[in-house]
Parts: sequence; structure tokens; C-alpha cells
Amino acid sequence: MITVESLHHTFTIGKKGNEKKVEVLKGINFHIEQGEIVAVVGKSGSGKSTLLQIIAGFMRPDSGTIIVNNTEISKFNEKQSAAFRLNHFGFIFQNFQLLPAQTVFENIELPLKLKGVSRAIREKKVVELLKKVGLTEVADHYPNELSGGQQQRVSIARAMITNPPIILADEPTGSLDSQTELEILALIQKLNKEENLTFIIITHDEEVASIADCKLRMTDGLLVGGMTHVI
Ligand SMILES: Nc1ncnc2c1ncn2[C@@H]1O[C@H](COP(=O)(O)OP(=O)(O)OP(=O)(O)O)[C@@H](O)[C@H]1O
Ligand SMILES: [Mg+2]
Repeated sequence: MITVESLHHTFTIGKKGNEKKVEVLKGINFHIEQGEIVAVVGKSGSGKSTLLQIIAGFMRPDSGTIIVNNTEISKFNEKQSAAFRLNHFGFIFQNFQLLPAQTVFENIELPLKLKGVSRAIREKKVVELLKKVGLTEVADHYPNELSGGQQQRVSIARAMITNPPIILADEPTGSLDSQTELEILALIQKLNKEENLTFIIITHDEEVASIADCKLRMTDGLLVGGMTHVI
């Protein structure tokens, strides 16, 4: 479902006249099947978030190919990337990134609004997902009235509301205590099984990596590891 080949990316950093080039991705290759949970581990600054941002189309790579569901997406312009993203990727972040002035219901509903989906269908979908992630009781609450684990459930529901086949998660349990982390991991595993959702999860945490079908390690701009999916 996702094949990445020879992905290269270099950042230019520093003041003009004194720039430095940092080669972050030096030829990344991997393949992910639908319904897999993949953990990407690696040191801080090794390029994990950069890789995720590029897969999501927020950044164009210098070179290489990214094929998602038979579509080559690495050369898309911004508009094409945004449209593709809306239909294929959901996002979960360490700091949840919920809108503070919107209720749980409204936060989850938002991507469907952006897609122009009718109110009746939005309501039906949100109610369904609230049930799936166990938040029906707090639908009318605001994010600051929720625990960290509940906030992350909201962001998982928001990520899933448009039925994307792939969820990209950058340190999804990085702000949670270990008990809450286990709850969120159980939810991710449940959604993976029941919905055949594919997860790419960046993590520093061995507990998170332990639920993955395969573990990819970023080292020196390359993905390495003892699994079959690095090509
Ligand atoms: N927009 C940018 N402009 C310039 N350099 C950047 C940019 N984004 C990231 N970098 C550099 O690229 C390297 C990789 O950053 P990245 O955020 O991908 O690392 P990471 O593996 O996600 O780290 P962490 O575990 O700390 O989140 C770092 O050296 C960083 O300084
Ligand atoms: Mg990062």
C-alpha cells in the first residue's frame, strides 16, 4: 500500500552567506502493506518527523518516489497533496492539536466540514466514532475539560472521520503517563484489527514499538532494521 524508494532530502539551515546543508534522508526504502502497524524509531534529530511530513505531502522531497495505493505522490503540488491527504491520511500528534474553542464533537467533525459533507451525515459519523473510541459521554465537553488520554482519543477519532486508510502518528503517547499510554495503544490495536487501518507510528518508546508488526530504525539518514519490509 505504501512503497518508498530512494527518498532523499536535504535542509539548508543558517544565515544567508553562511548556510549549511544537512542531509537528513539519504535514500530511504521501505514497503508497508495495508493493515500493518509500523513503528519508526530512532534518535532525536534523525529525520523521523521529516519522513512523515514528506509522506503526508507537507514537504516535497529532493528526490525519490512515494507510491500510495498505486499513486505516485512525491511530485504533487500543494493543491494535489492537500486533496490526496484529505482522502488517504489521518494524523495524530503528541500534543493532540485540538481546537480549544470547539467541543469534542466539533473537533471530530471538522475534517468532514472541510470536505463539504452534509450535517446529517457528519452527525451520524461522529456519533459512530465517539462510540468506537469511548467518548460518547464527553461529546459536548471542551478539550481543556478532558484528560490527556481522552484528548488523544478525540484526535484519533478526528484522524479517522474521513475514513483514511492510513494513520500517521508522531509520538502519539509522548505526553501520556504509562497507564494511559497502554489504553491508547489498546485502542490503536483495536482500530487496526477492526478497521484494517494502517498505522505508521513514530516513537521513542519500546512499549509502543512492541505493538508494531514491523519496526524501522532511522540511523544516519537510512532506515535499517531486522525486518522484511526494508527494501
Ligand atoms: N524545516 C526545517 N528546516 C531546517 N532543518 C530542519 C527542518 N526540519 C527539521 N530540520 C532538521 O532535520 C533534522 C531532522 O529533524 P526531524 O524533526 O525530522 O527529527 P526527528 O527524528 O523527528 O527528531 P525528534 O525525535 O527530536 O522529533 C534535524 O537536524 C533538524 O534540525
Ligand atoms: Mg520528530
